[in-house]
Amino acid sequence: MDTELNSIKKELDQELKILSNKKIADGVYEMKLQGDTSLITAPGQFINIKLPGFYLRRPISICDYDEKGLTIIYKVVGHGTDYLSTLGADTAIMSLMGLGNGFDVDSCGGHVLLVGGGVGTPPMYGLAKALFAAGKKVSVVLGFNSASDVFYKDEFEKLGASHKDLFGGVYVATVDGSEGTKGFVTDCLKEIDGITDYCACGPIPMLKALFGFYGDKIPGQLSFEERMGCGFGACVGCSIKTNSGFKKVCKDGPIFKSTDVII
Ligand code: FES
Repeated sequence: MDTELNSIKKELDQELKILSNKKIADGVYEMKLQGDTSLITAPGQFINIKLPGFYLRRPISICDYDEKGLTIIYKVVGHGTDYLSTLGADTAIMSLMGLGNGFDVDSCGGHVLLVGGGVGTPPMYGLAKALFAAGKKVSVVLGFNSASDVFYKDEFEKLGASHKDLFGGVYVATVDGSEGTKGFVTDCLKEIDGITDYCACGPIPMLKALFGFYGDKIPGQLSFEERMGCGFGACVGCSIKTNSGFKKVCKDGPIFKSTDVII
């Protein structure tokens, strides 16, 4: 069993070179990495980074990627991510690549609402690109605690500006009202008409509130940010309850249909 797992790991483990690593909001960093991205197949997948001296890897969702490299955005929440924030350009790191199922762009209708809560925002960026490329209209809602936590609003607006006919705008909600609408992402939803689907990543209360708002009338794809152990299905560190029993967020997800998960 161990040998089998080690060989899975070896297959997915790749060396990446850090190109840049900069702070973009309170405790939040954007890291650009160069390396082989051929194992990444869909927006919403994640990588699992090995840090020297740390037993557990750090799973981080992919913000954007092309054939030469990828961008990740992470929040410093403990020793591992704090260490990651100190790494400079040209440092090499090892990471398991292309993990998880990713969002299903083809199943989306003509107007997709993307909802990112805090560090659930990054995968929405790559997804927006993929939806625009597929000719679908995209509206974006981002939720943060405060203005100092807001990131990537301008990046989404820039992306939208190059797809004017397909762009429904970016809405921001902050809990303390210091930027955008005061409150939660759900406080922006009434302003956005005609959506066919929604895709979201963020804390469970946010995902729950979205499902509460749209119910089963509008299909949703929800990405879960569970704490993970192995990151590729070999432990039970990330189970979630669904209509067909417990599923592993890292292997069966992180994205599940809104009507399949029990939250
Ligand atoms: Fe080990 Fe998901 S993290 S099974």
